[in-house]
Amino acid sequence: MRLENRVAIVTGAASGIGRAVARKLAAEGARLVIGDRNVEGAEETAGMLDANAVVAALDVSDEASCRAIVDQAVERHGALDIVCNIAGVLDFGRFADVDRSRWDRVISVNLTGVYHMCRAAMPHLIPRRGTIINMASAAGLVGVPYNSAYTASKHGVIGLTRALALEFSKEGVRINAVCPGGVRTPMLEQAPPEDIDWQMVMRSASWLDGGEIAEPSDIADTVAFLASDEARRITGAAFTVDGGQTAG
Ligand SMILES: NC(=O)c1ccc[n+]([C@@H]2O[C@H](COP(=O)([O-])OP(=O)(O)OC[C@H]3O[C@@H](n4cnc5c(N)ncnc54)[C@H](O)[C@@H]3O)[C@@H](O)[C@H]2O)c1
Repeated sequence: MRLENRVAIVTGAASGIGRAVARKLAAEGARLVIGDRNVEGAEETAGMLDANAVVAALDVSDEASCRAIVDQAVERHGALDIVCNIAGVLDFGRFADVDRSRWDRVISVNLTGVYHMCRAAMPHLIPRRGTIINMASAAGLVGVPYNSAYTASKHGVIGLTRALALEFSKEGVRINAVCPGGVRTPMLEQAPPEDIDWQMVMRSASWLDGGEIAEPSDIADTVAFLASDEARRITGAAFTVDGGQTAG
């Protein structure tokens, strides 16, 4: 019960890592507001939790929607302590095919979405010395070929995390990024386009080549640790949970 009575928002909670984070935080005693653009999936997640959770329709690429979920958390629970920015999209493709609309979609969800949530939440986190955990990726630390927009967005998430960690260190708000390698979620079931050099992708992502793939709960354990007081000295970290993928 490391997060007893803390109020937490989890985005992307309808599926995969976001769902596992919601389950873990609820088990640790947090009071949850969970959001996703897939409301049905988020309601399903709420049904799996030990405690009651508020479910919100959320599009992280929309500023008003991000403000609304933050307002809902504060109105419902009177405070906000933890924000887990987990929502994200993957889009494999040759750079020649990544037109402006594909680029914009990935950046607006994965990077601008984190920006919107941090902006909306920060005024409430400051008085609580709260914390933000942003889901980046190993692709935030190394390049993944045929994944240009995603790789750029996740590098951006780590940069934003580091800048905010410094800017808000005096207020005691900790901001960290988590960088998983491959995790068994619906995101990884996306069929890659046939016209890419798959061998090259596998070299950059060793887990695709028969290496061990993580479970969503592995990532949720790290998020819960970073949200807890045990991580009180950790801020501005890009915390890898990738089985060593980016170590060599
Ligand atoms: N699965 C992996 O191998 C892996 C590895 C590294 C990082 N990640 C990151 O982890 C996070 C979660 O991914 P996952 O693997 O659980 O994928 P997932 O597809 O299972 O879940 C992503 C969730 O985000 C939601 N979402 C997408 N766009 C949204 C929007 N605009 N507003 C609100 N919600 C939105 C989806 O509806 C879905 O519920 C992502 O940020 C992803 O980039 C995943």
